Amino acid sequence: MGFVKWANLLLIFHFFAATPIFSHSSSFTSKFLDLAKEPKIFDWMVNIRRKIHENPELGYEEFKTSELITSELTKLSIPYKYPVAVTGVVGFIGTGSSPFVALRADMDALPIQELVEWEHKSKVAGKMHACGHDAHVAMLLGAAKILKAHEKEILGTVVLVFQPAEEGGGGAQKIIDSGALENVSAIFGLHVHPNEPVGVVATRSGPLATGSSFFEAIISGKGGHAAIPQYAIDPIVATSNIIISLQHILSREVDPLDPQVLTIGKFQGGETANVIPDSVLIAGTFRAFSRESMMYLKQRIEQVIIGQAAVHKCNATVTFLNGDKPYSPPTINNYDLHEYFKSVVGNMLGANKIKKAQLLMGSEDFALFQEAIPGYIFFLGMENKSVEQLPSAHSPYFKVNEDALPYGAAIHASLASNYLIKLHQDQPLVEDKYNDEL
Ligand SMILES: *[C@@H]1O[C@H](CO)[C@@H](O)[C@H](O)[C@H]1NC(C)=O
Ligand SMILES: *[C@@H]1O[C@H](CO)[C@@H](O)[C@H](O)[C@H]1NC(C)=O
Ligand SMILES: *[C@@H]1O[C@H](CO)[C@@H](O)[C@H](O)[C@H]1NC(C)=O
Ligand SMILES: [Zn+2]
Ligand SMILES: [Zn+2]
Repeated sequence: MGFVKWANLLLIFHFFAATPIFSHSSSFTSKFLDLAKEPKIFDWMVNIRRKIHENPELGYEEFKTSELITSELTKLSIPYKYPVAVTGVVGFIGTGSSPFVALRADMDALPIQELVEWEHKSKVAGKMHACGHDAHVAMLLGAAKILKAHEKEILGTVVLVFQPAEEGGGGAQKIIDSGALENVSAIFGLHVHPNEPVGVVATRSGPLATGSSFFEAIISGKGGHAAIPQYAIDPIVATSNIIISLQHILSREVDPLDPQVLTIGKFQGGETANVIPDSVLIAGTFRAFSRESMMYLKQRIEQVIIGQAAVHKCNATVTFLNGDKPYSPPTINNYDLHEYFKSVVGNMLGANKIKKAQLLMGSEDFALFQEAIPGYIFFLGMENKSVEQLPSAHSPYFKVNEDALPYGAAIHASLASNYLIKLHQDQPLVEDKYNDEL
């Protein structure tokens, strides 16, 4: 048979082979949700989540959290690397060799005083798991427990990424820099959602959350007496015009169908009513759903501040902040992974439980993983209207509905194990072709 015909036949074979093998594969993962709801996994996850909730730790200080994670991994005989990215943990389940697929949970808490009165309230004054990262860790451990029990069926290696410092600390970048994602084919993550029901996921292909960046500017003039402004150069009036002009970038220069935000949250200048100060400091943030829009805003913010300062005979310096508040790119879900997600989660929950997520005007540092390798993140519903309405993330009244934990654990486990099956199907056929032909 000629090469072309042979290749065609392989393509046809591959086309037909892919679907049945894939649905067959879901037979071992179809039990994952029931398994995750069993007390030996559910109660265990709840217990872990509550322990972490009681001892919240901020970015790069997750020492007790990672200690708990490594001790559970040890009990499960799951090998891991620690420390990765200061306080991160990376575990491995499966063959230990290629292909690799990663699951990510963030571990850090927020500098918020918890105001929920309950048995497992935060024991640390001024710190709280108000974004659900305690639940994210518990669910990834739940997935680990399920996958470990099915290790023989895993066609490659699942990499468990427990990431520090999601809340503006750039933990994802440090994980990437550590090399933990080298040779990893795809990464999946989730975030709890207080306004979607338990058993429902919300997601979308393409842009999901904005990129965010922070900046600071100093506008310098020349101080003087309020009554003789002709001998001074007034940075207060200059800065007032700068702030108005910055808003005109959004109203006059950018596409109204491409949502963007620019907010000046800090304006500091002057001490008293009858003195013109030497300088004014402003600081702000901007958000957009594409890297191009982010770059455009960045460039225009600098031009407008410097140019508008010059109109008022002032000088200005603009700094885009790194370190403490790193630049986070927009969160953009990979198209192929979206299709894959719909097939796996549709099988588990039913297609009607997959809702289209609203665009989010906040940012998620999972976006950094998505710039490095194909990545996919979705929202996991945890609302139960018959019980209560849940406050939004970052509220001191934030609550996790623990009934959602089995869903997160089972979806994680299913996404990872089926992805390796999918990769396995895709690869040997290609290799066979070359073996036969050459
Ligand atoms: C990635 O794969 C290359 C080539 O197979 C190998 O040399 C390297 O050690 C791998 N890196 C990791 C972190 O496994
Ligand atoms: C602005 O910078 C120029 C050049 O360094 C300097 O000559 C001028 O005095 C500065 N003006 C103000 C208001 O600081
Ligand atoms: C919602 O809460 C009620 C009352 O606790 C419970 O019976 C029901 O199973 C919950 N629903 C889900 C989907 O967890
Ligand atoms: Zn958060
Ligand atoms: Zn979060």
